[in-house]
Amino acid sequence: MITAALLILATCPIDDPWTRLEGTQPAQWRLVWTSDPAHEVTVSWTTLEAGNSHRVHFHPMEELRESAQDHAPTRADGEEQHAREVAAHRSGAYTLDPTEIGEVTGAFYHHARLTGLQASTTYWFRIESDGLLSPELHFQTSPAEDHAFKMLHGGDSRTGIQERQRMNRFIGLLADEHPDLITFAHGGDFIANGKLWGHWQRWLSQNELTTSAAGRVLPMIPTRGNHEPGPLFDEIFDDPGGAGLNYFSTDITPAVSLITLNTEISAAGDQAVWLESELARLRPERRWLLTQYHRAIYPAVKDPASAKSHWVPLFEEYNLDIALEADGHSVKRTVPIREEAQDPSGVTYIGEGGLGVPQRAPKSERWFLQEPGMSGKAHHVVLLHFGPVELHSRIVSLPDPLLSGVKATGEEPGLPADATWRYLAGADPADEAWRGADFDESNWDEGVAGFGYGDEDDATVLSGMQGEFSRVYIRTLIDPALVAEFEEVQLAIRYDDGFIAYLGGVEIARAAIESGCGPSAEGVTSHEAGGWEVFPLGSGAELAARLGPGPAVLALEGHNCSLTSSDFTLHARLIGPTKDLPADPKQALILDEFRLRPRSER
Ligand SMILES: [Fe+2]
Repeated sequence: MITAALLILATCPIDDPWTRLEGTQPAQWRLVWTSDPAHEVTVSWTTLEAGNSHRVHFHPMEELRESAQDHAPTRADGEEQHAREVAAHRSGAYTLDPTEIGEVTGAFYHHARLTGLQASTTYWFRIESDGLLSPELHFQTSPAEDHAFKMLHGGDSRTGIQERQRMNRFIGLLADEHPDLITFAHGGDFIANGKLWGHWQRWLSQNELTTSAAGRVLPMIPTRGNHEPGPLFDEIFDDPGGAGLNYFSTDITPAVSLITLNTEISAAGDQAVWLESELARLRPERRWLLTQYHRAIYPAVKDPASAKSHWVPLFEEYNLDIALEADGHSVKRTVPIREEAQDPSGVTYIGEGGLGVPQRAPKSERWFLQEPGMSGKAHHVVLLHFGPVELHSRIVSLPDPLLSGVKATGEEPGLPADATWRYLAGADPADEAWRGADFDESNWDEGVAGFGYGDEDDATVLSGMQGEFSRVYIRTLIDPALVAEFEEVQLAIRYDDGFIAYLGGVEIARAAIESGCGPSAEGVTSHEAGGWEVFPLGSGAELAARLGPGPAVLALEGHNCSLTSSDFTLHARLIGPTKDLPADPKQALILDEFRLRPRSER
């Protein structure tokens, strides 16, 4: 339920790993690259209070060493007088949506543009607002020469809060692991509702997790997604490509350019004219020419973006190499495409959105996803290595600690996430018999988990629920033998708002429901579905002994805290013991690997 979720978002628990918004303490730092990343970067940050004086202190690392300082400066005055500083050119209050006024604490943005930088140089910087300083951070400018480098691309951080944090930490680890990784292109859909500061505030704080342990920040090349209407996108990234337009070229090196396009405004007209002139200007001079935009033109999940008819003829005429896409919530690489057919001289489309949003099953039967293309369903980021002789693209993913959770024996989870259930929606059972094995369920509907509406993460969509009913009942059969050998059995569940779970007719877990059940449940409180939450059920042997030999019923009732709530989720599975695997880039799963020779050699 969105309104109450905003109240939670507005207060960060004290043990959150990111900088809290407090007074004029600079927090939520991000760097933005637009046209000239060898010589310019925009440093942006947030303060809770407006403050008066906002600036960035910065200096090339090399000169710091040469100036007889063996450590980075720790204060913004006195001893590091050789550091340059630049005042913020733009500050203001983040726009609150009318529904947030009185509900969410506002904050202030600041942008300072660092210009005249040296190429291929690591810069130390600290942000200062009214005397309060950020940590010491650093970034690299891009090479002015034709040097090899790496770039990350990903999209759709969105609503999977825990998954988003894991991906952000992973990006920070990749930055430490790859010193030649210099930028992160975000394909859009940062959050669920781009008009809400409450959503952006959480994203911006969590984005601090992409800073490497050594303090390295990857400058971002942001794309506007369909979930970012309204003024906040430009307030956060300082009008990249012009306020509301948000299309621009980034000449990363003399050999590589990335053209960022905007699928949320007209793809024809001015944008198409500009695109053609940029392709004509850049193609003769660049070994690698790429574009990124939000809505997929060769999608693995949805229908093609309306931009297709305006942009694809230009991509093909000017021999674009790669188009980076987002929005679908899946992972894919197409075959090279020209004139609606596989053609080695064509354009390869890679994406499409896995920085935290729940993943959807791709339509893998589509012709352009066949080998040597690929498609799948996993959180991921694309790591592009632009070398002198080839472009090496890897789609990398983290192991899911729940999927790889340790099981004592057996190949299958006790109950998979995509199990089929019987469900009752829009009515209440007559009595408690529905929780038991003897109940006649033949009048109940059948559907694949999870159940719900409103946040694009449900396999069985209850489209008639909003405004009509607030309770849903689901039941399925499990084989007790499947869990008997688990050292520990756990109910893993994604839920919005509350639930009660019964196994073998006995209540085993409940959350966000104070007392009672069914229509007499009381104290249903708001809870937003994020990642899987686990409820330990004890040893598998004891559980199996209690359940006996026959199939046992796992039954759940899900409750929305109001009829008009904007979403509902009820998605449960049974798993063995889990261990939280630390994010380690060496454990990254390589979902796809692809090498491309320059056009002159193809
Ligand atoms: Fe989208």
